[in-house]
Amino acid sequence: MRLLVTAGPTREAIDPVRFISNRSSGKMGYAVAAEAVKRGHEVVLVSGPVSLEAPAGVSCIRVVSAAEMMDAVMPKFDWCDAAVMTAAVADWRPRKANAQKLKKSRGIPSIELEATKDILAEVCRMKGRRKVVGFAAETTDCIAEGARKLREKGADLMVVNDVTRPDSGFETDTNKVTFIHSDGTREDMRVMPKSKVAGLIIDWIESSGASHGR
Ligand code: CTP
Repeated sequence: MRLLVTAGPTREAIDPVRFISNRSSGKMGYAVAAEAVKRGHEVVLVSGPVSLEAPAGVSCIRVVSAAEMMDAVMPKFDWCDAAVMTAAVADWRPRKANAQKLKKSRGIPSIELEATKDILAEVCRMKGRRKVVGFAAETTDCIAEGARKLREKGADLMVVNDVTRPDSGFETDTNKVTFIHSDGTREDMRVMPKSKVAGLIIDWIESSGASHGR
């Protein structure tokens, strides 16, 4: 199968030296890419700025901002049979990045933000027979929020994790996730290495009947 994976954070420029971003390390997405290629699938990984090396055999497209991630994902979505969207895409960006460094001597800047586009929701609108897996990083009402995102964005599977747990979420090597399926069923997984979570996601995709096209 052909798999498209997004991973890592995005960075939204404030000026040439500052940006808005988040704590995503990219570990979950890189684990999905590594597991998929190990099983003989073709993988394109669209990655925000992280300190990880792309797994051998994975074709990696590096991007910085949410807009660049969208531009990299769209043409590859047509190619893939399934997509796993682990990236922590910034929800807002400065309306205008300053061309020069903002100077402290000029006082505290007020930075006007605008929404970025939702890449997951966008690909789900054109998915046809492809399967799309979303991730939900939550701090409160994790299951209800994950179910809402699955419904509103139109994903086939939502992998929810509580990022307040020390053994789960950003920067850790383990994750405690719940799978929420589009028929409303739920599977609570135990704490396990991200490589194992990746394996379960690939298992699900392999048995889902995913294929590209209408
Ligand atoms: N996502 C995306 N593009 C965005 C924002 C999110 O593709 N601009 C995707 C993420 O890759 C993830 C899913 O949507 O698969 C959920 O992301 P998350 O940050 O948990 O949710 P948000 O949409 O930001 O919602 P909220 O702010 O309510 O948590």
